[in-house]
Amino acid sequence: MSTQFAPLKNDTFLRALMRQETEYTPLWLMRQAGRYLPEYRATRKRAGSFMSLAKNPDFATEVTIQPLDRFKLDAAILFSDILTVPDAMGLGLYFEEGEGPKFERPLKDEKSIMDLKVPVEGSLQYVFDAVTQIRRTLDGRVPLIGFSGSPWTLACYMVEGQGSREFHGIKTLMYKRPDLMDRILRLNAEAVATYLNAQIDAGAQAVMIFDSWGGALADGAYQRFSLKYMQDVVSKLQKEKDGKRIPCIVFTKGGGLWLEQIADIGADALGLDWTVNLGQARARVGDKVALQGNLDPAVLFAEPDQIRKEVTAALHSYGKPGAGHGHVFNLGHGISQFTSPDAVTVLVETVHEVSRQQRQA
Ligand code: CP3
Repeated sequence: MSTQFAPLKNDTFLRALMRQETEYTPLWLMRQAGRYLPEYRATRKRAGSFMSLAKNPDFATEVTIQPLDRFKLDAAILFSDILTVPDAMGLGLYFEEGEGPKFERPLKDEKSIMDLKVPVEGSLQYVFDAVTQIRRTLDGRVPLIGFSGSPWTLACYMVEGQGSREFHGIKTLMYKRPDLMDRILRLNAEAVATYLNAQIDAGAQAVMIFDSWGGALADGAYQRFSLKYMQDVVSKLQKEKDGKRIPCIVFTKGGGLWLEQIADIGADALGLDWTVNLGQARARVGDKVALQGNLDPAVLFAEPDQIRKEVTAALHSYGKPGAGHGHVFNLGHGISQFTSPDAVTVLVETVHEVSRQQRQA
């Protein structure tokens, strides 16, 4: 496929990630394409299942664009899932109606861990095809974000076989057999770096690493089993493509206590959940990284006036943009399926309006 793409008409998001000046605070929303949108539910019905949406580049393109047609978002994110990587490692991803993701063949013993291999070439080609097709269809409208799970977060699903509250299986492995834990994480780090670099080659203009379960770790274990492997990934990423910087965002949910250390691994930006005050986070990381976040997604269940108040408070907590740009507005975690699209319209308009006013004040 040709890699000639249209020039960007709106690069506000990329400039904010590189801590350059912007006219307003750009925003996108984690899980912006999803079940809260009736048009997503309609396409998903046509596709038959989540995986047939994700594996078909036409469907993936259609649902990636849907939120952009409704809201003035400043970035698109590839429609896929973090669990495509372990699926391509042979674990057999499936979704049962009304339940979260599961694996047919989780890593349940030493042999399955020793047999684990990075994905074979071509097994994730459908993702890279989707990236290229989305980037073409965007036609320079906004930048396209590629993503992956962190080595640790992927390992949580690979060992537990599904989502978990207590992480009994993976924490037992981590404390009892750190050698086996390291083997999984080493392979995951290699797979994730290759996967993100291939997304960049296919057309992704920024990449994000989702460490959704890093916050389940003890201090010490976090640095040893999650952060270290994310640092490995970041060090292997291509930093430029066709002469343009490809910024990297790292998001450890529940990682507020470790911000200084996360800011040191070489990423361009940190994702923040809602437990963190943006201004205090900014003071702690200084000029090292941009910040992305961090409105509680539950704010979107409130009335429009209350949403405006909360969004304005979040923008003000970051502080005067003139003193240093580098804020990308987002939620502190994925948008809930029970969110009204009208609430999102209020959020998007408020971020743009208030952040422009802030710059004039
Ligand atoms: O942000 C986006 O719009 C891009 C697409 C995206 C999805 N999943 C689509 C999806 C992204 C970036 C993800 C990341 C992801 N997936 C994470 C990391 C972020 C986080 O939420 O912590 C994790 C842990 C997963 C694993 C996963 N996939 C779970 C736990 C679930 C079920 C949760 C739920 O909402 O039902 C999924 C399924 C999934 N991935 C859906 C979507 C839109 C819902 C599937 C459906 O249509 O039924």
